[in-house]
Amino acid sequence: MHVFIWFGFWLFSLYSLPVTTGQSNLICSTQPIVAHAGDDVILSCRLDPPISASSRTVEWTKPGLDPEYIHVHQDGRLVYQSQNPLYNYRTALFVDQLINGNVSMKIFRVKTSDAGKYKCFLPSLWKETFIELKIEGDFMDPSSCTPCVAISVLLGVLFILTVVLWVWKWRQSKTGERKHLLNLFSNDFLSIILIVMTTNRDDHHKRE
Ligand SMILES: *[C@@H]1O[C@H](CO)[C@@H](O)[C@H](O)[C@H]1NC(C)=O
Repeated sequence: MHVFIWFGFWLFSLYSLPVTTGQSNLICSTQPIVAHAGDDVILSCRLDPPISASSRTVEWTKPGLDPEYIHVHQDGRLVYQSQNPLYNYRTALFVDQLINGNVSMKIFRVKTSDAGKYKCFLPSLWKETFIELKIEGDFMDPSSCTPCVAISVLLGVLFILTVVLWVWKWRQSKTGERKHLLNLFSNDFLSIILIVMTTNRDDHHKRE
């Protein structure tokens, strides 16, 4: 009888273990998380069906970064030594939510350079899922929009050139008008002299 009970228990554990661990999936937001520089963001991931992640290692990494560790939660705390210094004091897990399988990571005061793909990995379950963070640039922030700055400078230069050209044209037309007047005046003056001269000559002829 004892043997059967133990055999039954053994069978039960064998079948229930994969059910409680292996079948839980790590589900992260499939939509990119969109934020502005300076915002606090939550990279949302959970185990579904929910199982506790309290006593598990949770590894948040950013592939391509060196070191790639953003937040490694082990033995109930952050493994600070492994963390990429760019993220020091800027990350947190919802430790009281781990028991519900919520392994989301919060990043405080995101920077433009934080944008990219993050990976959540639970070594004990051998589950990993990616989640993308997008940082939208503010128009006022010059570092976030190089083309905007270039276009503004170009527009400024164009505006100044237009004004300079316009003023130059205007002055040209002014002096042109003056020349025209002078021409008119001198022509009349010449004709008057001519008229005077011819009439004088006529007078001479008449007198002779
Ligand atoms: C995880 O917990 C945090 C804090 O309570 C919550 O804001 C977030 O929506 C939760 N995420 C999931 C996937 O349940």
